[in-house]
Amino acid sequence: MNSTAAGASTPTAAGTVVPVITIDGPTASGKGTVAERVAVALGFHYLDSGALYRLVALRALQLGCSPDDAVALTALARGLQPHFGAGRIVLDGEDVSRAIRTEEVSRLASQVAVHAPLRAALLQLQRSFRQPPGLVADGRDMGTVVFPDALLKVYLTASVPARAERRHKQLMEKGFAASIDALLQDLRARDERDSMRAEAPLRPAQDALLLDSSGLGIGEVVDAVLHWFRQASRRSE
Ligand code: C5P
Repeated sequence: MNSTAAGASTPTAAGTVVPVITIDGPTASGKGTVAERVAVALGFHYLDSGALYRLVALRALQLGCSPDDAVALTALARGLQPHFGAGRIVLDGEDVSRAIRTEEVSRLASQVAVHAPLRAALLQLQRSFRQPPGLVADGRDMGTVVFPDALLKVYLTASVPARAERRHKQLMEKGFAASIDALLQDLRARDERDSMRAEAPLRPAQDALLLDSSGLGIGEVVDAVLHWFRQASRRSE
């Protein structure tokens, strides 16, 4: 979706505020799968904000742009016109759904994400996904920065070994080779970079509900989020 931004809390033409559920958390906490399923259950739109950082990283890689070159990376972010649909991400006519999931792009995405002007350049694009009847957005700063007025904010965590195992399974299913040890190391490095950066660091919003999914199945996590959403909707009536 590339429509103009509906600001963080701008009402629609009909005067209603479009409800947002934010699901933030570290890499491989399961937030993407949970967010997508919650969106389907509610008939809401879905924003995978990490994909936008991955798209910038992919283009940077293709163009030989340094991860430290904030000016060039921000220009790339400004020009981004991705199309999301039917589980595919298309950029400039090319299906990049698979290309943005490699470990190389994952690493680079968390490096380019430290730049404040680049993050600012992606704000409007992210907020443009807020369309009726509602939005489920997953990432690192959805509840703290992008949608501070979200109706429900969830912070999803899981232990590092549980996350490494999930990531390993996901990669194998997609046909990518991966070693658990390398994944553990990489997860720790990305966690540290995402949590320690000055700009929009990974942390729960003050009003977020915390959920540790280590011992839970995906269905249980989805049910918990849907339950919280019903409660929050009733409270807001
Ligand atoms: O969620 P995903 O692993 O696809 O995100 C890739 C990288 O993009 C993360 O490691 C993080 O550094 C960055 N990111 C971010 N803010 C977001 C979403 C992702 O900084 N809202």
